[in-house]
Amino acid sequence: MHVCTLVGARPQFVKAAAVSPALKEAGIRETLVHSGQHYDELLSQIFFDELGVDPPAVNLEVGSGSHAKQTGAIMVQLEHFIEESGPYDAIIVYGDTNTTLAGALVAAKGHIPLAHVEAGMRSFNWRMPEEINRILTDRVSKWLFASTQTAANHLMSEGLGDNTILVGDVMLDATHMFAERAKEQRPLESLIQYKPGGYVLATVHRPSNTDIRENLRSIFAAFGQLPWPVILPLHPRTRAAMGDMTVPDNVEIRPPVGYIDMLTLTSNAHRVLTDSGGLMKEAYWFGIPCVILREETEYPETLVNDWHTCTGADEESILGAVMKEPTGPRCRFGEGPEGRAASMIARLLLNDK
Ligand code: UD1
Repeated sequence: MHVCTLVGARPQFVKAAAVSPALKEAGIRETLVHSGQHYDELLSQIFFDELGVDPPAVNLEVGSGSHAKQTGAIMVQLEHFIEESGPYDAIIVYGDTNTTLAGALVAAKGHIPLAHVEAGMRSFNWRMPEEINRILTDRVSKWLFASTQTAANHLMSEGLGDNTILVGDVMLDATHMFAERAKEQRPLESLIQYKPGGYVLATVHRPSNTDIRENLRSIFAAFGQLPWPVILPLHPRTRAAMGDMTVPDNVEIRPPVGYIDMLTLTSNAHRVLTDSGGLMKEAYWFGIPCVILREETEYPETLVNDWHTCTGADEESILGAVMKEPTGPRCRFGEGPEGRAASMIARLLLNDK
């Protein structure tokens, strides 16, 4: 079996780090394509260097641009690459980025069966580009690999149940694969001067927070009132959006951080404040309460017992949520029926090619 995997944005490199070895183990030949959506060293290359993902066969180098420009550029080049390097038995896409949708459309129109890893995520907020990307990708997929029962339920209610398989979350696989290494090779004291639990970790990059200036101001105002230092590895989009905005004294802005360092920073934080889907899940798995800087979440399981709280960008809500303690235990979340999600995906692809 020969598959083409398309990645392009930071979290997709992490997901590939979990799935690619499982494909190899199952004897599936994989050709990895990088769309070039993320191109900064710290958003892209560092993940390949650290996580042992093979270098991509090609980098389409599409870079930044409007949604149409980015999605279209990936489609044009991917279609060409597929024609030259195929045939393929399947195309694999991850998550909900513009890269994901571009790969999905090329697969569907080229009559190549599509596998969507992390299918069925829904925020029900059509203003999020990701929501559009996910729904359209799911609609044209042959394999809908859902990471939670909630996601599988969404797919069933949309009439896509026949193609849906609950496999678990490949990001949980990645956490299991790399958490020990983070502990051994990147201990907290090698990264920051604070003790475990002595700081909060924050990230902000969603357009709803970066592109609406009032929201970004309100988030920073909340950070400024926290009684802890705030470690803030900053996405280039946010840095650009900040302009000359004043940064509170307790906020330490850092360059984007690689996956291994991020595991260390997350697992030792007092709280995580983020609008990133991946980071909020990692916080949950490490048992760190998390403030979701969005109005809604694709992972309602994490809201049980106040482990996670959605606050949007509202200053008072953020401050209130940060001070709350969870009121009960966490529930099972992201665990697959067979343990590792990645090996289940590889097996299912092989069985049904
Ligand atoms: C993308 C995904 C988002 C995902 C995130 C992970 C879409 C629509 N969004 O958001 O779902 O959570 O990746 O990080 O696909 N930029 C750089 N260097 C880079 C990449 C981006 O400077 O290497 C800047 C550019 O100014 C660009 C902006 O960041 O315009 C946004 O990048 P883009 O790829 O459009 O989306 P992300 O915000 O990274």
